[in-house]
Amino acid sequence: MKPLSRRAALTLGGLGVAGTVIGGAGLLWSRQTDTFVDHGETSGLLPGYVDGESLRQPPELGSTDGLLEVNLDAAPGSAEIGGRTVTVLAYNEGLPGPTLRLRPGDRVRVRLRNGLDDPTNLHVHGLHVSPEGNSDNPFVMIEPGATFDYDYRLPPDHPPGLFWYHPHHHGLVADQIFGGLYGAIVIDDVEPLPVARERVLVISDITPDGAGGVASASPAERMRGREGRLVLVNGQLKPNIGIRPGERERWRIVNACVSRYLRLGLDGQGMQLLGLDSGRFEVPRDVEEVLLAPGNRADLLVTAATIDTGSTTSSPLRALPYNRGSVGMGGMMGGSTLSTQAVDLATVTVSGEPEPAASAVPRQPAPRDLRGVAVTARRKLAFAMGMGMGGGGGMSFTINGETFDGDRVDTTVQTGSVEEWLLTNSSMMDHPVHLHVWPMQLIEENGRAAQTAQWQDVVNVPAGGTARVRIAFDDFPGRTVYHCHILDHEDVGMMGVIEARGGAAPGAG
Ligand code: C2O
Ligand code: CU
Ligand code: CU
Repeated sequence: MKPLSRRAALTLGGLGVAGTVIGGAGLLWSRQTDTFVDHGETSGLLPGYVDGESLRQPPELGSTDGLLEVNLDAAPGSAEIGGRTVTVLAYNEGLPGPTLRLRPGDRVRVRLRNGLDDPTNLHVHGLHVSPEGNSDNPFVMIEPGATFDYDYRLPPDHPPGLFWYHPHHHGLVADQIFGGLYGAIVIDDVEPLPVARERVLVISDITPDGAGGVASASPAERMRGREGRLVLVNGQLKPNIGIRPGERERWRIVNACVSRYLRLGLDGQGMQLLGLDSGRFEVPRDVEEVLLAPGNRADLLVTAATIDTGSTTSSPLRALPYNRGSVGMGGMMGGSTLSTQAVDLATVTVSGEPEPAASAVPRQPAPRDLRGVAVTARRKLAFAMGMGMGGGGGMSFTINGETFDGDRVDTTVQTGSVEEWLLTNSSMMDHPVHLHVWPMQLIEENGRAAQTAQWQDVVNVPAGGTARVRIAFDDFPGRTVYHCHILDHEDVGMMGVIEARGGAAPGAG
C-alpha cells in the first residue's frame, strides 16, 4: 500500500467497530522515505526496484474483554512495492492485512466483504476452532459484492503462537494469496516473554507484471508451484531492521509464499527457535537456520551481536538456497530443478547503546506427546503427480489417486480418536502437507524418528519420501480439508475432505 498517515491507518484498522489498535505510532504505518535508498539490484531478482526502508508493522487489531470484531475488506488496491505502484489484492488496503491479536478463549467476529471480481472466503490457518457453519469452514463461498459474517470461538486452552488468515476458495487460492491477501494472527502468551520488542514478519512473494498488475501463472508455473520474483517482508522489499547491541527481540515469521520454501539464515546474530507453527519447545533451541515450508511459521528469538561502542554492524536475513526437487516426468517440462537462489530478505543493522543480556526465557510447558499413546486408526495418504486429466497442464495432482471433490468425503475420523497417518510422496518434488483444525505431531521423516515432541500444521513430505504423523481428534465434529500447501497444487486438486464424527466418548467402551 501507499504509505498511510497515522490517522488513515487508525481508520483502516479500526473501521469504527470494536477492534482496538494496539501500540503507539511505532507499530503503525509511517512514512520512511528518508531511509529510502536505491541499492540498484540488491534484491537480485528484478532491477529497478528500491529497498531499504525501515521495517513496518501491519496495523494491529486486538480483542478486548474476550471479543474482537473486525471488518475485513478484500479488494484490489494500489500498493507501493519497492518504490513502484502495483495493483494488488489486499485486506483493508494493507499488504499484509491487519494483524489480529488474540488471547485463548476469545471470540472473533469477522465481517468479510468481497470487493474482488471473483468468489472468495476466509481461512484461519492453524487455529484450533470448529470447521462448521460460519466458523473456519472452507466450503463457504462469498460471491463478488457479498458479505459474510464469520464467528470463531477459541477454546480457553488454545495454544499461544502465530497463525495466519488467507482466502481458501478452491481454484483461486494461489492467485488470491499471490495477489496479496494474507495477514497474521497472534495469540498472546499468558506470561509475555522477556524481550525488548516483538515483530511480525509476514514473508510473501509476488511478480509485478510490468503493466502495473500482478503476473498470472503459466501452466508450467502452476505445475511446479509459482515463485514470485520479489520476496517481501510485510510488503516491503529488503527492509531494514534496527536493533541495539545485545538486544533480544522476538520475531514471529509467517511463510505466506504460495510455493517458495524459506530456509532462513541470519549470520552474525544469535537465533533461538521457540517453536514452529503452534508447537512450542520446552526450551528455546539454538539454530543456524530455520526451514519454513509454505504455510509454516517460526517463533524466533533474535539476539543482536555485542559490538564495540560507537560501531555499527549489519547482516542480511536471507532465504538460503533450497532444492525442492524437480517436476520430473522425463524432462517433459524441461525437468528443471526447483531450487531457489539465495535472496536477501531484510538487513539487520546493529548500532547504538549496548543492552545488558536479557534474562532467560522461562521453561515452557512440556508439549503433549502422542508417541506413547494407543493409536485408534492408521491410514496412508499417497501424494502423487502423474499424467492425467487433472487441471495442472495435463498433469494430475492426486491424494490416494483422487483429485479434490468437495462433495466427496475421503477420510472419516471419530472425535476422541488418535490416528497415525503415513504420508507418502511418489513424485520428484516436495509437497508440504497441511491439515486444517487439528495439528499433527511429527513422528518420523523418511524413516528418521523425531527426537522430541514436535507439533506442526504443515509437514513437509520430501520428494520420493515419507512422513509419519499422529493426530488427536479431540474435538470439533465437522467437515474440513487437508491439502498440499503449494497452493497451485491445492488449486489443481491436491486436496481431500475429512469429516470428524462425534462417536463414542473418548476413553469409553
Ligand atoms: Cu493455509 Cu488450507 O490453508
Ligand atoms: Cu490451513
Ligand atoms: Cu504439492
